[in-house]
This record gives sequence, structure tokens and C-alpha cells, in this order.
Amino acid sequence: MGAAMTVQLYARDVGVGTPLVLIHGFPLSSAMWLNQREGLATRFRVITPDLRGFGGSVLGTEEPSVDEMADDVARLFRRIGVARAVVGGLSMGGYVAMALCRRHPDLVMGVVLADTRAGEDSAEIRAARLAQVERLETEDTVRVLLDEVLPHLVGPTTFRQRALVYGRVRGLVQATPPRAAAWALRAMAARGESFETLRTLKVPALVVVGAEDTLTTEADARAMVDTIPNAELLVIPRAGHLCAVEQPDLFNQAVAEFTAAIARMAG
Ligand code: MLT
Repeated sequence: MGAAMTVQLYARDVGVGTPLVLIHGFPLSSAMWLNQREGLATRFRVITPDLRGFGGSVLGTEEPSVDEMADDVARLFRRIGVARAVVGGLSMGGYVAMALCRRHPDLVMGVVLADTRAGEDSAEIRAARLAQVERLETEDTVRVLLDEVLPHLVGPTTFRQRALVYGRVRGLVQATPPRAAAWALRAMAARGESFETLRTLKVPALVVVGAEDTLTTEADARAMVDTIPNAELLVIPRAGHLCAVEQPDLFNQAVAEFTAAIARMAG
């Protein structure tokens, strides 16, 4: 396919100041960053892309790959005139953020890695993903994601006490196009590890994890912090895998302090 076919990501882009690019998790969209746009755009330029196939972005014809997703984000930077940004990613968005650090380091001033991990998939996780792909492609609905992924996205506190938040997350999963979900699952299953990228990271990192996250655990977060030369760790209480959605005030405060410190160093 020629360059003319290249996917252009749809992105919500609000506020002014140091650019902060936030990359969503699976199987969601930039809609998951609602509280970050509201809470952080008073201080920063908050840019939240929809990865290919999700939200307002088309899927394209390229082979499934996390590197491809990172290249999409790099092209978005150029298209909207952002030279460098603090880049944050949650879970799958973290895999993309790490690929961006590897492939386009000049674009990254600092990185926020939330509820994500640097290791590659185990054979067991890979097999589970490919079984989900099979169901997505044969059923042409996201039923399998509602059955198998949604229950692990939020922590028990949110599940029991924040019905509106859980309902919102459920709605986002339901809105995911099955073909986009299948593509992203194949991309995640094929990705390699990112420890070498983290070991040689030249910019500061903030690693965040929900205390109740069972998909990417505090141990996964600590493994990243121990690898990155300049990293701090925040464990957010009463939050699961979607800590930015479940505890937006604590998440936003940490990201705001981190981004402001980087802006001061750059300024
Ligand atoms: C996500 O939230 O993006 C996914 O849990 C990532 C994954 O399945 O590895």
C-alpha cells in the first residue's frame, strides 16, 4: 500500500501549554481520557488519539503491529505540529508509548506508563488472545470481550461502589468494532519485550499502577521502575487496571506534577 493509504489518527486536542499525549488501552478509545481532558487541559495541551480502528480512526490495511501503532502516533505529532510531548499510555497504550520511545525517541520529553508491562506475552496469554480473535472474527460481535476482558478492567472497589464508572467502561467496550479488537489482539500477541528500551531511556518516567490491578500488577510496575534510569512509582489505592478512569483525581495530580517538572526542565 502506498503512503496515500496511511491511516491518519483521529485525536481530541484540548488546552494549551506543554503537550501531553495520552494513549488509550484495550478495548477502549480516547473516550477513556474524559477526566484527563477535563482535569489537565487547564494546564497542558492534552492530545488523546484513537488508535487505528478504535473511536474515530479507521483501521487501515497494514499488518497488526504495535510498532505500526507507534508510527501512527508519530505521524500525528507531525500533522498537528507537535515537536515533543510528554507521552502517557495505559496498558496497550503503554506498549505503544514504549514502542514510540524506541522508534521515535526525539518526540518524547517524558513518559507515563500506567498499568502496563515491559515483558512480552507468555505462551498462555498469546493463546488466549488468539482464541479471542477467533471468536471476534466468527461471531462478529464483541461478546467475548464483555465475557473475558471487561470483568478484569476495573478493580473490586469500582465494581462494588462506582456503578456509573463501570457502566461507562462497559459502554466503551461495547462500542469497539470487532475487527479493530482482533487486529489489536494480534498486534499485542506479536510484540516483543521493551526492557532494553527502558534500560536506555534518556527521559524521566512516571510509572503508575492501580493497587487492585490484576492484569498488570504492582510487580510488573516495579520491574519497569527498576529498569528505567530515572523513574518514580505511584501505586493508586482503590483502583484496578483502569486507574486513570477509576481514580482520576489522584492520577491527574501525579501526571500534572510530573509534566510540570519536565516543562520547567525544558523551559
Ligand atoms: C489493555 O488494557 O490495554 C489490555 O489489558 C492490554 C493487554 O491485554 O495486554
